[in-house]
Amino acid sequence: MLAFDSMTLADKLQSLKAEALASFQTADSSKALYDKKVHYLGKSGVFTEVMKEMGSLSKEERPQFGKLVNEVKVVLEAAYAEAEQALKKQEIDAQMLSEEIDLSLPSYPLQIGSEHPVHRVINEIAGIMGRLGYSLRQGPLIEKDYYNFEALNIPADHPARDMQDTFFIDKTHVLRTHTSPIQIHSLESEKPPLRIIGTGPVFRCDSDISHLPNFHQIEGMCVDTKVSMADLKGTISFFVKEFFGSGLKTRFRPSFFPFTEPSAEVDCTCPICKGKGCSLCKQSGWIEIGGCGLINPKVFQHAHVEYPKWQGFAFGFGIERMAIIKYGIDDIRLIPENDMRFVRQFEV
Ligand code: PHE
Repeated sequence: MLAFDSMTLADKLQSLKAEALASFQTADSSKALYDKKVHYLGKSGVFTEVMKEMGSLSKEERPQFGKLVNEVKVVLEAAYAEAEQALKKQEIDAQMLSEEIDLSLPSYPLQIGSEHPVHRVINEIAGIMGRLGYSLRQGPLIEKDYYNFEALNIPADHPARDMQDTFFIDKTHVLRTHTSPIQIHSLESEKPPLRIIGTGPVFRCDSDISHLPNFHQIEGMCVDTKVSMADLKGTISFFVKEFFGSGLKTRFRPSFFPFTEPSAEVDCTCPICKGKGCSLCKQSGWIEIGGCGLINPKVFQHAHVEYPKWQGFAFGFGIERMAIIKYGIDDIRLIPENDMRFVRQFEV
């Protein structure tokens, strides 16, 4: 029983409580319920108004009345939470019923891939060179500086290091910038005569319409007792004819690589303009596919292979370059994108 006299205010509170409870129970959605909560318990709601009437009570009555208001609020909050939970459950059940999922519907068809042009080129090269007695090798993608440069006669302060913009892993390790380190691995672990091709990804800090930072190379190496530039030209010309068909011309341009002497660069007729000059071939009519030359005696020295008892030639070609020439692709950057609409065009 209340100790204070103003029973009218306490009665008012009790009847408001009953009214609010009843209205919570009749709410037919969680939104309607929330509106009712705001109406009674909100900042400018019914109970706040009642609190304002507290001024009419005596000093002693006020704390008791305040306590009573708080009790009523706690009851109403609990009633609200309970009603809200029930309504939310009803709403979710109704939603689940209306959005029933048909589990028997077939899913989206799986996209069947096809051989990627890079792998197609590698497989084809391996096939052609296999007929000449070459077999496949691979090497690590992270190379010691020694294998990527030093053993290939590119000493630390040599300007030839600038020919390949290098990603360094730490002071002594790099992402290999070419497949030529495979030459050294093979010379170290196998006995000549040797005919090997090494393929795989290489990395350079370079990117534009005709350069990719991550591309693929194919390395060829022949080591035997008598090897000349004529053998090298013969082998590459045969290979290029087999690979591109006899319609394309190749040319050898004298060049420089520290690991070959003499050295040459190999170009093919530009497939887009057929030699007339376009943006892909920078108006020259030719596309460079790689380098080659006779193995520098210094390389043999590093790998402890006796020279001139053993001599050799080597070549390194860019796979993506060969793919754009063979398939007439006008932007090399399409190759690593793996867009199915592009890759599908190379289905065998
Ligand atoms: N490694 C050279 C390059 O990536 C290509 C090359 C290989 C040249 C073998 C000569 C002999 O540019």
